[in-house]
Amino acid sequence: MCGIVGYIGPKNSLPILLEGLRRLEYRGYDSAGVALIHDGKLEVHKKAGKVADLVASMKGTHASAQLGIGHTRWATHGEPNDVNAHPHWDCKHEIAIIHNGIIENYVALKIKLQKDGHTIRTVTDTEILVHLIEEMYKRSHDLFTAVRLALLEVEGAYGILVISTKEPDRIIAARKGSPLVIGIGDDESLVASDAAALVDHTRQVIYLEDGQVACLTADSVTIKTIHDQEIIKQVEEITFDLEQIEKGGYEHFMLKEIHEQPTSILNSMRGRLLLQEGTAKLGGLEPVMDKLLAAKRFIITACGTSWHAALAGKYMIEQLTGIPVEVDYASEFRYRNPVVQPGDVVFVISQSGETADTLAALREAQSKGATVLGIVNVVGSTIARATDAGVFIHAGPEIGVASTKAFTSQLSVLALISLLLARHRGMSKEQGITIARDLQSVPEKIEKVLTQIDQIKYIAEEFKHAQNFIYLGRGINFPTALEGALKLKEISYIHAEGYPAAEMKHGPIALIDENMPVVFIVPKDAIYDKVLSNIQEVRARKGRIIAIANEDDTEIGNLSDFVVRVPRTLSYFGPIVNSIPLQLLAYYMAVARGCNVDQPRNLAKSVTVE
Ligand code: G6P
Repeated sequence: MCGIVGYIGPKNSLPILLEGLRRLEYRGYDSAGVALIHDGKLEVHKKAGKVADLVASMKGTHASAQLGIGHTRWATHGEPNDVNAHPHWDCKHEIAIIHNGIIENYVALKIKLQKDGHTIRTVTDTEILVHLIEEMYKRSHDLFTAVRLALLEVEGAYGILVISTKEPDRIIAARKGSPLVIGIGDDESLVASDAAALVDHTRQVIYLEDGQVACLTADSVTIKTIHDQEIIKQVEEITFDLEQIEKGGYEHFMLKEIHEQPTSILNSMRGRLLLQEGTAKLGGLEPVMDKLLAAKRFIITACGTSWHAALAGKYMIEQLTGIPVEVDYASEFRYRNPVVQPGDVVFVISQSGETADTLAALREAQSKGATVLGIVNVVGSTIARATDAGVFIHAGPEIGVASTKAFTSQLSVLALISLLLARHRGMSKEQGITIARDLQSVPEKIEKVLTQIDQIKYIAEEFKHAQNFIYLGRGINFPTALEGALKLKEISYIHAEGYPAAEMKHGPIALIDENMPVVFIVPKDAIYDKVLSNIQEVRARKGRIIAIANEDDTEIGNLSDFVVRVPRTLSYFGPIVNSIPLQLLAYYMAVARGCNVDQPRNLAKSVTVE
């Protein structure tokens, strides 16, 4: 996600901030900015684009300040432009803030602050927070207290730094759900979202915890909870190197992103899943709700992994709402003169928001009069701007070429859309609550799957010399099988096919012998017994069976060579959980074969050509 860095001490802070921001560039971002306190005045520079663009835009200014904060923004609310870039400031241009995360109740806070006379200049959630701090400062006349009081009113996730011309000897830092690490130097203090931005200056650090607020001066650090209890924290020493830090200690970005999924899925549902009401709230769809409710049919179009999410979305939407859904490859949709009827609603799904075929499909649908909605990760991307409305998945920047966390966040957003529509079409509140609860438990279930890594590594070692793989699943886990096979071929270069399990006997069964590994996704759902029959068919031909099965499945062990256990979910959400072991299997197979996991040959993260 976004990057944060702050400095207070005897040196000129600007070069330290800019170097820190460069160190955070690997995280992906779309604009950058700094705020400095210089001669008692607040000086802010910010620019859409890269840190280099910010530096170029500052040519001619001679900012030199001993206190400053810097930010690289990855847009969540509002386009990535100069205005929405951080830092943001209060009405009097005295207090500046940078923020990672999402303030969920910013709309309610905004209305209140506007009533109290605040002028809000941007569409970001972050700016609201700095006005709230301004309001609290009027009461407390103390920045540390004002930040604490403001945070008591905030729902959502944040890592923030705040500075003020009224107290130019300190930086206030606070965290909930978005990391911050404080660096302790010689008569200087630093703070950053990631130790990568600190290691050039110090290796002595304090990791701030959720619910804590810190006041940093050049020679002291005071930490409290947001409820005003003082905390004594241990200073720790960073022992790892820079390369490791950037990947959060993981060997590859793909592995880091696989492990981020409990959090990225939570972020995609944050403030949107309404447990008590058993429904979902999707602000981005509100303007088109009448069209969504009137639609007789949905079409979903996408490419690659996003297309697999679309296919799983078809099962979810059809089963929960009864509305028919067609799924089409964007590259096919754009040229086949598709039948788009009045009232059809078309969803386009794209992680990058830049895929050329998906963009062309979007334009084709719009030219035929459809309402086109986006399910996109990158805010401000071409597809996000070209759609009539939509939902951002908030998975954070995905750097590994093989998509992992974006896929599961696309699925969780499709689940939210399905639930929302189902409730509007007569699903009872009770059923809605059951579904919402199950969806909410998905991140926790993924944590459990991530404890199975040793078993998955063992399987990868066993099959690393295989030349072919078959992946089989039924119902909503047919798309899971497709995605598992795609992951394997993308990064390990092993030929892999995904099939609906029952279709195997119409062709792929001819390939099965004692050398063929077959991955079955076999949760205990309504078609479990049918899949067991398919497993028997493979066993009879001596195929080697790897089963992705539920924890309480007592039969599967006798029928398979290897089992990876996954917790049970409602069938609609199975692919979110069941795809995790398949991502890990592909990953460890690729590592065992010595492949370049993050940048596989011939593939691009964003395909902007036809
Ligand atoms: C490329 C990537 C895939 C991705 C596909 C669609 O092929 O390598 O990982 O699924 O494009 O990308 P999108 O950004 O539109 O989801």
